[in-house]
Amino acid sequence: MQYGHFDDAAREYVITRPDTPRSWSNYLGSRLYGGIITQGAGGYSFYKSGGTGRVLRFRFNGVPQDEPGRFLYMRDDADGDFWSASWQPVGKPLRGIDGGGPDGDATDAKGNPTQASSVRHGLGYSIFNSSYRGIDSEATFFIPQGQAFEYWSVKVTNTTAKPRTISLFSYAELSNEWNYRQDLENLQYSQYVVVCRMRDGMLHRVNSTRTHTSELWFGMTGADVAGFDTDRDAFLGAYRTQSAPLAVERGACSGSETTGDNACASLQARLELAPGETRQVIYMMGVGAPDASWKDLDGVALRPGREIMAEYGTPEAVDRELHAIREEWREFLAPLQVATPDEQMNSMINVWHAYQTHMTFNWSRGVSLIEAGDRDGLGYRDTVQDMLAVIHAIPDAVRERLDMILTGQTEEGGAMPLVKPLTHRPGHEKTPTLEQYRSDDPLWLPITVANFVYETGDVAYLDTVLPYADHGEATVFEHLKQAIHFSLGHLGNNGLVQGLQADWNDCIQFGTTGESMFSTFLMANGCRVVAELAEQTGRAADAEWARSVLAGLAPVLEGAWDGEWYIRGISSTGAKLGSKALDEGQIYLEPNVWAAISQTVPEARAIGAMDSVHERLSTEHGVALCAPAHTKEVPGVGLSLLVFPVGHKENGGIFCHANSWTIVAEGILGRGDRAYEYYRGFLPAKYNDQAELHQVEPYVYCQFTHGPESPRFGQARNPWLTGTASWSYVGVTQYILGVRPELDGLRIDPCLPEGWDGFQVKRRFRGMNLTINVVNVDGLATGVSSVTIDDIEVAPFDDGKRGALVPVEALADGDVLTVTMG
Ligand code: GLC
Repeated sequence: MQYGHFDDAAREYVITRPDTPRSWSNYLGSRLYGGIITQGAGGYSFYKSGGTGRVLRFRFNGVPQDEPGRFLYMRDDADGDFWSASWQPVGKPLRGIDGGGPDGDATDAKGNPTQASSVRHGLGYSIFNSSYRGIDSEATFFIPQGQAFEYWSVKVTNTTAKPRTISLFSYAELSNEWNYRQDLENLQYSQYVVVCRMRDGMLHRVNSTRTHTSELWFGMTGADVAGFDTDRDAFLGAYRTQSAPLAVERGACSGSETTGDNACASLQARLELAPGETRQVIYMMGVGAPDASWKDLDGVALRPGREIMAEYGTPEAVDRELHAIREEWREFLAPLQVATPDEQMNSMINVWHAYQTHMTFNWSRGVSLIEAGDRDGLGYRDTVQDMLAVIHAIPDAVRERLDMILTGQTEEGGAMPLVKPLTHRPGHEKTPTLEQYRSDDPLWLPITVANFVYETGDVAYLDTVLPYADHGEATVFEHLKQAIHFSLGHLGNNGLVQGLQADWNDCIQFGTTGESMFSTFLMANGCRVVAELAEQTGRAADAEWARSVLAGLAPVLEGAWDGEWYIRGISSTGAKLGSKALDEGQIYLEPNVWAAISQTVPEARAIGAMDSVHERLSTEHGVALCAPAHTKEVPGVGLSLLVFPVGHKENGGIFCHANSWTIVAEGILGRGDRAYEYYRGFLPAKYNDQAELHQVEPYVYCQFTHGPESPRFGQARNPWLTGTASWSYVGVTQYILGVRPELDGLRIDPCLPEGWDGFQVKRRFRGMNLTINVVNVDGLATGVSSVTIDDIEVAPFDDGKRGALVPVEALADGDVLTVTMG
C-alpha cells in the first residue's frame, strides 16, 4: 500500500493518505529554535534544547497519537460543523478512503461530508492541504532561517458560489516550564508557575520562576482577533479531547487568561469569505522579551514578539522566508547530487537521505518522537560517526564539532561516553573509571579525522593542539595515536581489546576481563588509517609504529577465526560469543563486516566472513545483527539485550546502522551485486509501496527493523536519529558509486550491480564543482580504464589500488569528468 510519493523536483515527500500506519514526521528549524511536526500536525518546538528549552508541549507515545501539536480548526459559522487544517485532530472521514466514498466524492456512502487531506513534507517546512465542504485551506509551518520564532501561515479559500463565514482557531499547548521533565512530571510545581495574558493583541506566556529564559509570545496577522483563550481547559472544555474543543464547537473562545494550571495559545479569527475569495492568516509564535531587555545564555538579545511581528507578519515575508529556507537546503544538498538508474536511490541521496544526515548531525539522539529531547549530551561514538556524511557539505560545522568531541577524549586515550556541549569544560572533566569507558568510543576518531583531512585537504589540522577532557593537551594526530594506545593498554588474556562497559553494541558488556572482537577490528582499522595518514603526511616513524602494531595483531585476528566466520568476543570465563560452539548467538554481524572494512585480514578470510553473513544473517529486509537470537545468558558476558524479545533491536533485529557497513564491506571486496543487494535491503524508499509492512516513513532510515525471529518481521522502528543515516550515505556514495576523497585527489572507484551502464555524480571537492560521468558499456562491477576531463585524457595517479585517483591538481571548478570503466 502507498500513502504518498517522492516529489524530487520540489524536494518534498507528498503524503496523500494522512492515516499512515505510524507518525510520519518532519523536522523544522535550526539548533537555535527547532521543532518536529507529524503528518497530523502533532509535535513540539524548543529553544536550543528539547530537554531544557521546551516551548510547545507534547505527550510522548500518547493515545490518540501525536497530540498536542500545531492545530488549526475551521468552523462553518452557519451550521457549526468544524474540521481541522490537518486531518487530525478532528479526523473527518477521508475522501476516497473512509466510508466507501470513491476518489473525488465529497461525501461518503452514508452521505457524510469527506475531507481531502494531503501533507507535503519539505526540507525545513510542512504544508497541509485540505478541502472540506467547499472550503480549501493550505497551512504552512516553518521556522525562518536563524530565527527563534515559527510561522503557521494559513490560506482559506471559499470555492463555493455562496458567501461563507468561517471561524479559524489556533491551538497549541504551551509548556509551563522550559525543562520538559519539570513541565510534565513535577506537577506540584510546574502547574503553578505559569501566567498567560493577552496584551497588545498578542498572547504572552510568562514563566516567573526562571531568570535565564524569556517569555513566549503568540500573535496573529491578516485578520482581527475575534477571541482568545490562554487557559487550556477553558478552550478544550472538561472531559473533551482535541478532536472537539468546546470553544470550537461553540464558535467562540472565552477570553481566558490563565494563572497556573495549563496554558494554551488560541486566537480566533472570523473570516467572511465571498465566493472564490481567499484570506491568509499568519500565526507566529516565538521566544522573546516583550517588555524587558533580556539576554539569552550566549548574550544574544532576542527581539520582542511585537517587533518581529511588525517585520515578519506579512504574506510577502512568509513567502520570502520560505524561499530562503528552500534555498538554504538546496545549497546544502548541492555538493552531492546523483543521477543513477535507480530512481529510489536518486530520491534518497539527492534529498531525504542527505537531509537526515544533517538532522542527525544537529540533534544527535536527542530530539524526536521517541526521544524526548532530554538527552542534550552527545554520545561519543554516535557523534564521531554522525559527522562522516556531512563533511563535504558543511566542513566548517564539522570542524567545530570535531574540535569539541576531540576534547572529550581523556589523556589516557579513552573517551567520555557523553559530552555535554552546553556545559563541557575541556581540561576539567572527571576522568571516567575503566569500567565506565566504552571500548570503541575513541577508536572512531581516526576514521572521521582522516576523512575530514581528505575532504578538506587541511593537513595542518593534524597539528592543531587540543586539550584532553581531563588534563593535558596534544595535537590532533597525537589524539588519534592515543586512542590506539588506550586499547593497547587494555588488552585481555587472548590479546583482544577488552570490551569494557560496551563496544559499539550497547547491549554487550564484556567488562574489563572479557574481550571484544569488534573493538579489536576497530583498533586494527584505526592502525591502518593512522598508518596511511602518517605515510601521506610525512610521519614515517608514526607510520612504522602503526604498521608494527598491526603486524603484531595478525595472529590474534587469525586466532579469532571460528572456521567460517569471526567470533564476537571472549568472555571472562573463556567462552566464545558468536561461535558455532553455541546454540544461540552463533554468528554476529559486527566483527565480520569490520574484518572486511578494516582490510587487516587476508582477503579470503574477509570473503569467507561476508559469505557467512550472507548465508546466515541476510533476509529480504536487511541483515540481522546476530542469529539465532538469545533467550538465555552466556556465562561471563553481560547480555543486556536479553531484555528484548528475540528479533528486536540488538537481539537479532535488523540493526540498520550495522547494515550500512555491509555496503562498505562488499564495496571494498568489489562485489557490486552484494553491495547493492544490501543497500536495497533496508532502503526506506523501497517500502514506499509496502508501507503497511514497513510502517514508518519511507523517506528516512530507522534504527532497526524487526528481525526474522520477531512476529513483527519487516516492521521498522525508531526513525530519523540513527547512525544508519551517516554510514549508509557513506556506503552508497563512496563505496557503490565509489567517489571518495583522498589526500591527493578524488578516487573514483565504482562497485556496481549487474546491468548498470553508468551514472552521474555532481560533487563539490575542495571548493570545485565537478560533474563525474561514469560510463560502463560492458556492465562491469569495478575497474576504471580511463578518465578524461573536458575530453582531454588525464593520467590518473596509479598507486596500484582499484579505481582511478584523479589528482587534485588536475581538477578545476566546473570540470566535467568522463570515467570509463574497463
Ligand atoms: C544505538 C546507540 C549507539 C549504539 C547502537 C548499538 O543506536 O545510539 O550508540 O552503537 O545503539 O547498540
